[in-house]
Amino acid sequence: MTPDAPRYTPYDKGRFQLTLGIRAIDPAEWIEFDSHYTAHLAEKRRLLAERPTEVFGATDGSLPAQTECLDMLLESLERTRPDMVELGGRTVHVVATGDRYEREAFAARPLDLAGRLVQEDLCLMAPHDGTYRLIAASLCFPSRWRLADKLGRPMVEIHQPVPGFNDKLARPVDRFFDRIEAGQVYMRLNWSVMDDPALFQPTGHGQSGINNAITAANAGDMLWLRVERQTFRRLPKSNALVFGIKTIVDPLSSLVGRPEVARGLNEAITDMPADTRRYKSMAPFADALAGWLDRAAVSPSD
Ligand code: HEM
Repeated sequence: MTPDAPRYTPYDKGRFQLTLGIRAIDPAEWIEFDSHYTAHLAEKRRLLAERPTEVFGATDGSLPAQTECLDMLLESLERTRPDMVELGGRTVHVVATGDRYEREAFAARPLDLAGRLVQEDLCLMAPHDGTYRLIAASLCFPSRWRLADKLGRPMVEIHQPVPGFNDKLARPVDRFFDRIEAGQVYMRLNWSVMDDPALFQPTGHGQSGINNAITAANAGDMLWLRVERQTFRRLPKSNALVFGIKTIVDPLSSLVGRPEVARGLNEAITDMPADTRRYKSMAPFADALAGWLDRAAVSPSD
């Protein structure tokens, strides 16, 4: 069966640029649902049961922002997707999974309940000393980072391993965050190619060595395009921001029949600085990926 075409292809421009890359979106599109909704919610539930301290964390004093985030999410879902999440007085019912949650059971960690209702991971960022700090998160699908390493930290420390972030992006990001007004929603896309489709990936940056199991012939089924649809929204009472991360994993083979996108991805990887390629752990399969993309970039009419 041919996989569906990826919904977002931020790598198709043929360039690698470390930019803010934000755009305003309709607040009705803050939360996104796709065909993996039921599976992703079940995976969140499993992770929250089996490794609770790794996928949820909150600092002292974050409760008001957590409560405000849950209230905003419920209000938004009630307006935009009443078919998916039904609200009773005290309960929340996720129609697709049949899960029913008592709101009272989450009084001490309302962000945990919020995270169980949507595919997005939800991070709360509070203004502090001219920047923003991560004060709470429901984070089941990290792209190679550990919540425990980042909770309570400011943006510069959170991004310390990211090549170029602190020089090029730290100040523009802080300024952008300060300008977000209540009612506005912004989004940006982050992307990687990975040799593991797991949603929960707490480690894995900087891998070297060659993975001989991945070849130009089989890379389509051994590699995955991982895109994060990131959203930003102000919580007006607490003044914190909700940082939503919806993780979308497609097999590389989803680019079959899309030669222009395959060409763009190949060029974007070639354009990528060596430290970024290392950070993204692309060395183990770089040649196999380039070989596969070379073939996929040939259109039938060429
Ligand atoms: C406009 C805002 C933001 C921009 C432009 C931005 C940019 C980036 C970029 C370029 C990367 C490297 C991704 C990769 O190559 O795979 C990254 C990684 C990361 N970002 Fe952000 N980011 C933003 C907001 C945030 C926020 C609000 C958080 C809060 C949790 C965050 C947490 C992280 C983490 C944890 C990593 C991985 C760091 C590591 O490898 O240890 N980012 N970000």
